[in-house]
Amino acid sequence: MAERGAWWREGIFYQIYPRSFQDSDCDGVGDLTGIIHRLPHLLTLGVDAIWLSPIFTSPMADFGYDIADYTGIDPLYGTMEDFDALVKAAHDGGLKVILDLVPNHTSDQHPWFLQARHARDDPHRDWYIWRDPAPDGGPPNNWLSEFGGGAWAFDSKTAQYYYHAFLAQQPDLNWRNPQVRAAIYNVMRFWLRKGVDGFRVDVIWHLIKDAQFRDNPANPDYHGGRPPHEQILSRYSADRPEVHEVVAEMRAVIDEFDDRVLIGEIYLPVERLMTYYGKDLTGAHLPFNFALLSAPWHAREIEAIIADYEAALPPGAWPNWVLGNHDRPRVASRVGPDQPRVAAMLLLTLRGTPTLYYGDEIGMHQVEIAPGEVRDPFERNVPGIGVGRDGCRTPMQWSALPQAGFTQAVPWLPVADDFTHENVVNLSADRRSILNLYRALIRMRKTHRALVTGRYRPVAAQGDLLLYRREDDGEVITVALNLGDEPVAIATEGRGLDGEILLSTWLDRDGERIDGTLDLRGNEGVVIGKAI
Ligand code: GLC
Ligand code: MG
Repeated sequence: MAERGAWWREGIFYQIYPRSFQDSDCDGVGDLTGIIHRLPHLLTLGVDAIWLSPIFTSPMADFGYDIADYTGIDPLYGTMEDFDALVKAAHDGGLKVILDLVPNHTSDQHPWFLQARHARDDPHRDWYIWRDPAPDGGPPNNWLSEFGGGAWAFDSKTAQYYYHAFLAQQPDLNWRNPQVRAAIYNVMRFWLRKGVDGFRVDVIWHLIKDAQFRDNPANPDYHGGRPPHEQILSRYSADRPEVHEVVAEMRAVIDEFDDRVLIGEIYLPVERLMTYYGKDLTGAHLPFNFALLSAPWHAREIEAIIADYEAALPPGAWPNWVLGNHDRPRVASRVGPDQPRVAAMLLLTLRGTPTLYYGDEIGMHQVEIAPGEVRDPFERNVPGIGVGRDGCRTPMQWSALPQAGFTQAVPWLPVADDFTHENVVNLSADRRSILNLYRALIRMRKTHRALVTGRYRPVAAQGDLLLYRREDDGEVITVALNLGDEPVAIATEGRGLDGEILLSTWLDRDGERIDGTLDLRGNEGVVIGKAI
């Protein structure tokens, strides 16, 4: 059962993309010691847990999502001593540490795969997914790789194809094989014993594929400009019923230890997403809710997304919300230049665990990457339609020093042009900056229980206005967000909007009493508190 008061229900999560957070050894790539140096920023911000994208031994074909040793730290990021030091420093500061578990596939350089491809009768052969060619010698079925092209790579030495949902350098493990399960569960135990507080599980809905490898159906809604793998629906290659048994087993491993969390990366429609809480909530504690990542930024659409999500939650399941990650365009660029503060207020006042993406707290935007400088394998394979993920992975902007204080070398991705102004030092000093808004929102969430545990109640509104309440026994909090640039005036009569402004997105209305009319400027959000 989901425990009341658990840290992963009450806390705020922060995703670090380690390559881009802070370099400490002048190689242009962020590392673990760099993260340790920057923990004070996170403590001032007030977050409760950090999730690190993969830091394990990897050839970096997909920047760490291709793992060659699940229990080794890649030298680019440091050593196991550095890792232990990071966990200790984080814990000393009261921060939990969540690692990225990538169980769906390994690197093609992982010893398991090197052995598996060695011979058909190798004991590791069945750890991966091998099929004979179709009668015409082509791939066994029509499944496509998410990163472009077919999902089957021919291995000439053993004359069979292996399956890769992502790059050919990321062969999928065979999760129907009990030895694979046992091996990954032991990887989990290794890190849990070291004191990590849980895992974000990469593409958890992909783990089990159709036993008969049936062809996927065509996607009738496909249109040009979308990634080519969307031409077929992944009916048989992902979200298979048997995956829930695996998720429950992972949860059982998590439950061997006290107070740890299991988070699942899942891009599925809301009804499917809910199944990952598991039967009687024995699945993931938090199946990531990515609905806002692709939401059209309109009040009515967001209102409907929240309503659908709240309505679909199984009894006792704890919600969560995500506004940005290392795979999707930066929120500041998705919502337009005037709305990032409103988006921040939304994320931090909704019911459920919020996950922030590094840099969003200083309003970092999607950076244009010149074609010759593209690093992301997805963009390299499928160029020109805007799938590139480099632009949301650029170095954290710490200061006006060269390379934004991220590195003293040439950074692996360019630093955004606006860094001399948009950086942590500068925005800290500016009382009304977005960074200080994030800090204030986080403080407010911690001091007003209704924002954490209170019920969510929509309030009818029109146009660009999004209105809702968070209520518990002692307090009612009203959130009013103006998603448009025109001012709006709302009569409070009969709507119970009276009270005192706790926070405005422009940080200049604290303490104002609302009585009769609530006036919002364009692009403004306010939080109104009232004791009951
Ligand atoms: C997940 C990761 C993404 C990675 C992919 C393959 O979606 O978030 O960055 O490329 O899995 O591992
Ligand atoms: Mg480095």
